[in-house]
Amino acid sequence: MVQKAIVLVGGFGTRLRPLSCTRPKALFPVANVPLLERVVRALAEGGVEEVVLAVSYQADLIEAKLGGGEKFSIRIKYSREKHPLGTAGPLWYARDELRDSGPFFMLNGDIIAEVDYKKLLEFHQEKGGMASIALHEVEDPSRYGVVDLDSSKRILKFVEKPPEDEAPSNLINAGCYALNPEVIDMVPEGKKTSIEREIFPKIAEKGKLFGFKSDSIWIDLGLPGDYLCANRTMLERECKKASSSVKIDSTAKIGKNTKIRGPTIIGANCIIGENCDIGPYVAIGEDTVIGDGVNLEDTVIFPRSAIKNFSSIAYAILGEGVVIGQWVKIQGSPEEGQVVILGDCCEVTDKLTVTAGTSVCPFKCLKECVLTPQRIL
Ligand code: GTP
Repeated sequence: MVQKAIVLVGGFGTRLRPLSCTRPKALFPVANVPLLERVVRALAEGGVEEVVLAVSYQADLIEAKLGGGEKFSIRIKYSREKHPLGTAGPLWYARDELRDSGPFFMLNGDIIAEVDYKKLLEFHQEKGGMASIALHEVEDPSRYGVVDLDSSKRILKFVEKPPEDEAPSNLINAGCYALNPEVIDMVPEGKKTSIEREIFPKIAEKGKLFGFKSDSIWIDLGLPGDYLCANRTMLERECKKASSSVKIDSTAKIGKNTKIRGPTIIGANCIIGENCDIGPYVAIGEDTVIGDGVNLEDTVIFPRSAIKNFSSIAYAILGEGVVIGQWVKIQGSPEEGQVVILGDCCEVTDKLTVTAGTSVCPFKCLKECVLTPQRIL
């Protein structure tokens, strides 16, 4: 039997605006690799042969990037929702692709996790339930769906985003499940439905919902700070894999006396000037040009941007094709989780300061300093 998976990538990613105005969250680069590419590769490594991408918002961009999956040795099919159907509705929409197989995986496409899919499936079959949820342990569960688990790993209760003192455990729904095809029949036809709020509680009532504790890394890319955190984690992993603290593409050019502190990744065809101080925790997308004397720290730069001489950027995300003038200071605040976000093709003119917590919409040109955090439309 072909092992299948469905990945949900149809959300609007509203918390990552304005970057998600011009691309779906699934295509955000994480350590220079699109998030969904990482998810699909992990599924292929976990023995999945066919993946259905449940797409809606900006579906064409996803299809153009991932295609039929040839590059990942997996078959990719697309289930295009006409309207977003939530986190359960896509199951009904893709029912013809999923019903004929045995248990299949379902994943939120906006998580970085290294779930052992083979073990999750074994667990699911051994327990004999209708659904098994991968669980991840966190310190503060109040942002997530939390489970109450008995000693046989049966989920007794499912509580969405409980206040910290009312959480039944620290084990949260990691957004990755093994499901029997019969779960599809519980989803109402063509209606926006939430699997967490409307389907799992019903399965738990039947005593057929189980929790599989996964000890791997787990990051949900909900907020800008989470996105930078995912980048930091994957930069560390990628550099470690390459047995080097920095990973510089062979086509990139680095100027004299430029110091690159790892973990940092520099993409193809980048040109970095002289006397720069880059890193730690910097990902520079391909075809980016950086002048002399530039300082960068804890920052993601999407492809094809330009940063001119003596500018300094920390705790920021720069969209594709952003242009930063000379002597610009962009300073996010990691302590307060206040990232600076510049949408695609923004321009910041010379000698400006942009303060923590500012986000700027695509194609906007800043000509004055931004000294109080705000959204610039
Ligand atoms: P926010 O708008 O910032 O909450 O982000 P989001 O749109 O990603 O929503 P959320 O984090 O709740 O979604 C979890 C996962 O489900 C993400 O991978 C989304 O792409 C996906 N998702 C959410 N809604 C839908 C939908 O209506 N259809 C499909 N196919 N996927 C969805």
